[in-house]
Amino acid sequence: MVGVGHYAPAAILTNEDLEKVLDTSDEWITSRTGMKRRHVSAPNEATSDLALAAARHALESASLRADEIDCFIVSTVTPDYPFPATACIVASKLGAQNKAAFDIEIACSGFIYGLTVAASLIRSGVYKRVMLIGAETLTKIVNKKDRATAILFGDGAGAVILESSQEDSFLSSELGSDGSRPEILRVQAGGSRYALDPLRYDMGEQFIYMEGREVFKFAVTKMIDATETALSKANLTHSDLDFLIPHQANKRIIDAAAKYLDMPSEKVLINIHEYGNTSAASIPIALSEAVRSKKIKAGDIIVFVGFGGGLSWGAVTWRWAA
Ligand code: UT7
Repeated sequence: MVGVGHYAPAAILTNEDLEKVLDTSDEWITSRTGMKRRHVSAPNEATSDLALAAARHALESASLRADEIDCFIVSTVTPDYPFPATACIVASKLGAQNKAAFDIEIACSGFIYGLTVAASLIRSGVYKRVMLIGAETLTKIVNKKDRATAILFGDGAGAVILESSQEDSFLSSELGSDGSRPEILRVQAGGSRYALDPLRYDMGEQFIYMEGREVFKFAVTKMIDATETALSKANLTHSDLDFLIPHQANKRIIDAAAKYLDMPSEKVLINIHEYGNTSAASIPIALSEAVRSKKIKAGDIIVFVGFGGGLSWGAVTWRWAA
């Protein structure tokens, strides 16, 4: 990766703010999730606006112009429109006309799937430089009256730029899915299965619905399995790992997986207290913060691991080159 960047909207929603409007408490949210604050996009701020800011940040860190990028990928479940792809809007606003641009929609696993696609496009020689952005405005699809989900989600974007080089940083990928139970984590209406008619609108089916306990159970196992498989595909073990950068859905999920994987806390990057769950944006935001604070050094072995709607999961092993 030759560039990283991130952006989060200025407005903050704290646990104390949530206590005033929902039957919840700072104590419950902190102890059950590790979350303290989330960043919230303005009514006129769309996902492409967040993605654009993160993309500019990444371009600046790589000292590149947008027209030097061959392909733009945005991972998101909160696109500006059902179509066209948000990536097309971002590329155009960056001034990169006529370049390849497309979205990936695989919920919280979006950065892991996107990284696998982006790295494969480079390894195969199709493109020399690819920008991958995880960007979400989840607060726009959250039911503000549902305490089970309204406390969890935040908005943000993280971007990385991949460039072909002699030394391949992409050591392995492990991706998976199980679509047999879409009902435990989804937005029910507004797609081709159930139109968003007035009745469904009144029932709140345009919002995220999640059976948290069910997702929790699957999450810990899949984080562990995906990490172990990705490491083994790269002929590495836990002890080779310098950093685990997990999807930030729940600190208890991360802690349980890290404990099993025998990862000391200083090697597990967590920023959930600041952003909440930003789905496809959570891993690249954590990566960008770590790179900018010079935590990550050349040669470090990192596993990025995520899970979410689909259900879906994945892990990528990466050697940090620059
Ligand atoms: O990004 C990928 C997808 N998302 C996730 O990975 C999330 C996975 N799931 C989770 O993180 C956790 O399941 C949650 C944080 C969502 C919930 O934590 P939990 O420990 O699984 O709680 P629970 O759903 O089992 O609920 C326990 C109790 C219930 O009350 P009763 O039935 O025991 O009386 C809930 O009604 O907590 C209650 N509750 C709340 N209380 C205060 C649920 N939400 C809240 C709330 N404040 N916000």
